[in-house]
Amino acid sequence: MADPQEVLAERVSAAVTAAFGAGQAGADPLIRPSQFADFQANVALPLAKSLGMPPRQVAERIVAHLDVAGVCDRVEISGPGFVNLTLSAGWIAGQATGLLTDERLGAAPTDPSAKVVVDYSGPNVAKELHVGHLRATAVGDAVVRILEFLGQTVVRAAHLGDWGTPFGMLIEYTLEVGEAAAHADLAAGDFTAFYQAARARFDSDEAFAERARRRVATLQAGDPESLRLWQVLVSASMEYLRMIYRRLDITLTDADMDPESFYNPMLADVCAELEDAGIAVISDGALCAFPPGFTGRDGKPIPFMLRKSDGAYGYATTDAAAIRYRLLDLKATRLIYVVGSEQAQHLQMTFAVARQAGWLTDQATAEHAKIGLVTGPDGKRLKTRTGEQVKLIDLINEAVERAARVIADRYDDPVLREQIAEAVGIGALKYGDLSVARESSYTFDFDRMLALTGNTGPYLQYATARIRSIFRKAGLDPAGAAGPIRITEDAERALALALLGFGRSVHLAAQTAEPHLLAGFLFEVASAFTTFYEVCPVLKADDPAVRDSRLALCALTLRVLVTGLGLLGVPVPERM
Ligand code: ARG
Repeated sequence: MADPQEVLAERVSAAVTAAFGAGQAGADPLIRPSQFADFQANVALPLAKSLGMPPRQVAERIVAHLDVAGVCDRVEISGPGFVNLTLSAGWIAGQATGLLTDERLGAAPTDPSAKVVVDYSGPNVAKELHVGHLRATAVGDAVVRILEFLGQTVVRAAHLGDWGTPFGMLIEYTLEVGEAAAHADLAAGDFTAFYQAARARFDSDEAFAERARRRVATLQAGDPESLRLWQVLVSASMEYLRMIYRRLDITLTDADMDPESFYNPMLADVCAELEDAGIAVISDGALCAFPPGFTGRDGKPIPFMLRKSDGAYGYATTDAAAIRYRLLDLKATRLIYVVGSEQAQHLQMTFAVARQAGWLTDQATAEHAKIGLVTGPDGKRLKTRTGEQVKLIDLINEAVERAARVIADRYDDPVLREQIAEAVGIGALKYGDLSVARESSYTFDFDRMLALTGNTGPYLQYATARIRSIFRKAGLDPAGAAGPIRITEDAERALALALLGFGRSVHLAAQTAEPHLLAGFLFEVASAFTTFYEVCPVLKADDPAVRDSRLALCALTLRVLVTGLGLLGVPVPERM
């Protein structure tokens, strides 16, 4: 066990039990990073309350029973009863040396029986992906990679919006422009123009609108020709999505698209089941559930619309069927919906209905991993100068072009330059998303994202490239660096201690579906490395043992950064 916080928690817990008996054994030792030491245990404060004793006295009793021989150099009580814990450099060095041969870098597998459905990306057929989808895609894909790294079974579900009323209009418009032309436009990603043109026809030509409405009906009735035309739209969109996912190194495949239409055959049954159970009732001709706890401003219960009065099913119906399928058929133990915050109510109602129906029980959890807004400099949803949605593909291209300019003077070989620019541009874009708490909104800013300093993709990539170049210069393979790691300088100590936190940050990111916790950790490591590299000569170290130790620290840093960036889905160029 390399995680110092876990080791200290165990030792402090044992001391609490020894001092106050098994009755207090469950008390959380409350180990926190400390300003005055490496960590502090805060358990004495709540314990003092429940024991009716002065907290300092509780702290003293804990310390009297605390066995941290070989782990800590110094244990001190401070303030009202904090126990300050300073690790010994020897212990840190030993643990770090151990990580060198630990292929999991201290991140033990968790919950082997967990089966997690991650609903993310949320693309729609015949619609452009925009910058909001980028966030839901990058965050979801990082969550998936992290959970799989911890040995959990993960089902990716993009919940492709491929069904609904717009398809009548889109099919009729396809017929007007010709199938081949429509396919070409869409596969190239020209959705917005296509969609807007169809919409304009729909709004201005009553005969067209009538054809579109009839087309929805025949499509939903399973008319083969309508289905074939619909498929033209779906396959063109899939071509576009595949291109985007490949470019962004997103692990979603065709098999993960989990299209809404997949649930069509289940919708009638789901409605019947909910109606029979009394969970859904007819209200104004529509079938609605009214899960408890959801009322509007007027105090009236908010409907979860399962079937409109004209018999049509909608977004909510599909989500009801999807959650039922995921829980009862896939037997998922955890559902994570990586979806925009604006859908919070819809998802909470979906979960509530699933709970009422008995699909969602104590055997499983459902959570909405909320995605906040990406804004422009005006603080509003990011828009182009002409007020349109910013296209994801334009952002990708611009990020790569700008990255090419940043590194332009470093490489003569155009192929290498292009490869590195692609990795740096895509890395900057994805990391820009992943380094922010997913629920907060942030201002989109190419300059900040591409900066070579600060918590950015390029800064982390650069740290790895720098380490690789140390080994290249020495003609050594980082995999061969065996240490042992020995600590003499403060900067070595800080770096080694930071590296021990890898497992903890991966576990935390997995539990909370918050990749930015891992990103923040990697930034800490890279910063500690930068300081270390400034003050500790590596190849020029006089003492061969010191040189070996520092090379081992470099190699471990490289592995932690490369593995961590891999879990975030951020590409890592070999040189930069
Ligand atoms: N396609 C939807 C949208 O663009 C997102 C889907 C989210 N997932 C879900 N199960 N509802 O808004």
